Amino acid sequence: MKKLLLSLLLLVTCAVAGARVSAAVSRAAAEPLSDRTAAAEPLLLPRPASVEPGKGLFRMSAATPFVAETPAQAELLRSFAAVALGYLPEVATDAPRAASVRFSTDAAFPDEGYRLEVGPGGIAVAASSERGFLYALQTLRQLLPDDAPSAAEWRVHAVRIADAPRFAYRGLMLDVARYFIPKEHVLKIIDAIAPLKINTLHLHLSDDNGWRVEIRRYPRLTQVGAWRVDRPGVPFPARRNALQWEEATVGGYYTQQDIREIVAHAAARRIDVIPEIDIPAHSNAALAAYPELACPVVDKYIGVLPGPGGDNARIIFCAGNDRVYDFLRNVLDEVMELFPSKRIHLGGDEADKHYWALCPRCRERMRAEGMSDPEQLQGYFMRRVSDYVRSRGREVCGWDELTRAELPEGAIVYGWQGMGDLALRAARQGHRFVMTPAKVCYLIRYQGPQWFEPETYFGNNTLRGLFDYDPVKPDWEPAWRDLLLGVQASLWTEFCSSPADVDHLLFPRTAALAEIGWSQPGRKRWPEFLGALDRYVDRLEGMGIVSARSMYNIQHTVRPHDGRLAVELACERPDVEIRYTTDGGEPTWRSARYRRPVSVDRSTTLRCATFRGRERTGEVLTLDLGWNLATARSVEGVGAQGWLLVNGLCGRRDSDFEWCTRAGGELVATVDLLREETLHRCTLGVLANPGMGIYLPAEVSVELSSDNEHFTEVARLVAPVDALFSDWRGRRDLELDLGGRTARWVRFRARSAGIVPPTAPRPGREAQLCCDEIVVE
Ligand code: ACM
Ligand code: ZN
Repeated sequence: MKKLLLSLLLLVTCAVAGARVSAAVSRAAAEPLSDRTAAAEPLLLPRPASVEPGKGLFRMSAATPFVAETPAQAELLRSFAAVALGYLPEVATDAPRAASVRFSTDAAFPDEGYRLEVGPGGIAVAASSERGFLYALQTLRQLLPDDAPSAAEWRVHAVRIADAPRFAYRGLMLDVARYFIPKEHVLKIIDAIAPLKINTLHLHLSDDNGWRVEIRRYPRLTQVGAWRVDRPGVPFPARRNALQWEEATVGGYYTQQDIREIVAHAAARRIDVIPEIDIPAHSNAALAAYPELACPVVDKYIGVLPGPGGDNARIIFCAGNDRVYDFLRNVLDEVMELFPSKRIHLGGDEADKHYWALCPRCRERMRAEGMSDPEQLQGYFMRRVSDYVRSRGREVCGWDELTRAELPEGAIVYGWQGMGDLALRAARQGHRFVMTPAKVCYLIRYQGPQWFEPETYFGNNTLRGLFDYDPVKPDWEPAWRDLLLGVQASLWTEFCSSPADVDHLLFPRTAALAEIGWSQPGRKRWPEFLGALDRYVDRLEGMGIVSARSMYNIQHTVRPHDGRLAVELACERPDVEIRYTTDGGEPTWRSARYRRPVSVDRSTTLRCATFRGRERTGEVLTLDLGWNLATARSVEGVGAQGWLLVNGLCGRRDSDFEWCTRAGGELVATVDLLREETLHRCTLGVLANPGMGIYLPAEVSVELSSDNEHFTEVARLVAPVDALFSDWRGRRDLELDLGGRTARWVRFRARSAGIVPPTAPRPGREAQLCCDEIVVE
């Protein structure tokens, strides 16, 4: 009993309060409570299905009786009061009394639903399950002030809340393989997501970069598979593979006792922990430990990969070797013993079939099973392992690549590619699915204006973008709505190297996931969400979790318009003001307020930031807008992207929306200077980021013309062959001499470095070209 009480005490320690009202959102609710007035709707996170503020309030004190119907309910109430109110009350289980806080079971409520009524006569909570009661208390916690434990009396405004989640599955995935998140930090994350009513933690426990769970039968999985070589200072995508004799020093793993602790901690907060053992690919860590389980045709050293691995990422479990299936059965036996979840995730993503196509064992398996396509072999592989998991009474989950072959029976498919639509293929076959589309729900992506963010991959998945996401589309067949279990935010950790990095990517976006998972679509409101979020963020801070403040930063767009530049500035928060200067000075609360695009027609340093009153809320954005003969002129030959080359602004990161790009071949851009000019020199800015497959051009040339028909080459730069695929990364402005010639049209040609060789990152692909900006003087 003591243990139960302790776990329940912990359960609400981190409950989030949301009644503090953001000044910008609702003034009425911030006014002092009175017995007569009806309050504004309290701001709650996630937003309940129905909230009706009433008149009057309930005055609670340590003398207020608590009444429950069962001992389990009593424990919930006691632990809630201990944390939220600062004392441990007696809880009666006999007949309800007046002016009390009381629980009553009502079987009519859906599993996680509840009703919470506060009136002058007390607080009444009804639900059908312990989860429902717990969630009601999480909500009640938000109706109390932050300093409740130090007060002698608590005034709770009258309100009637009827609530139930939109989706049964509200998940967060942590990739603990790329970056090993220490156990203590996982426990803290569980504390942080519980108040959001998130009910599933998906742990991605194995990948090419690490194996993270102790398996007693196969000790090398953690002795070898949990450790990789260090590549200090090199970002994940650019890390070169381990050499055989290099020492592996980076990593870690959870002992079986650690896993039990994590699972118990989550269970006390009604969070299900789904383990993922990713097969048949993303398995270099396991195969580094047991290389005999790879196809025998693999003739490379198999090591735990410090980065993407290049060709080594093709090394996967052999599908023709029965010992592989024995191994996986034994591993999964231990995994299923550790994780009581009814769901086991088997990955199945991104399996390159290169070695399967060459392997005599895999080919023999295909022949014996009458298969002509290695994709079918993956279907066979997944089905065989899935059948075992199902035979043990569990359900199988997998990424949406499972839909490329016959789906394992009963498999739950996680839609991740693009907008997750491949999961709908599974729905068409009657399979349940979870939506975690990379373009919205992958928390590895930039969460705000990129120049302020730590380096990561791809484009932006902002707080607002996630908040606005609705997985259900109007053109869906009705049956798919029933098959959609819910939504998940997924954190891949390639760019994390500390718990603080993890927190930065997780928070506050995980709160937006909670909102889309719980709240009914018609109830989602951005300003109200932000009001409740602010209080949640304060609470996280109290737990030592620092949330990203990216939502306060300014996203710029600078576009040529009528021979000038129009500078657009935007911030996701509607409750801040953007203020700016154009004289290079630091923006202050007294600086000009941004209301519409700023028009610029000369070299200008524009600096801006967001403010709430006198307080600066975001980072200072500095836009060094250069002006030259090409600025704001028209550009032909590069399609819709041409304006990026002449918008006065230089790109800094490959995905910062400033670059004109080409996958291989030649990029040709012709600028019309509008009149004949004497030209002395020009520059073309180019980028190298080998990890992302972006390399400097092999050659750049400039041609001039006075009629836009006949062009004469006047300058050319050729890169030394050995410089083409070096590790160097950064932007370079290539300068070409124009010798005082006259012309109206200037044409730039940049030729790609060609196919990336096997020794460089992203081998075998056309080198990507990124150009920005053109300067003509
Ligand atoms: C995935 O992002 N490969 C599931
Ligand atoms: Zn094989």
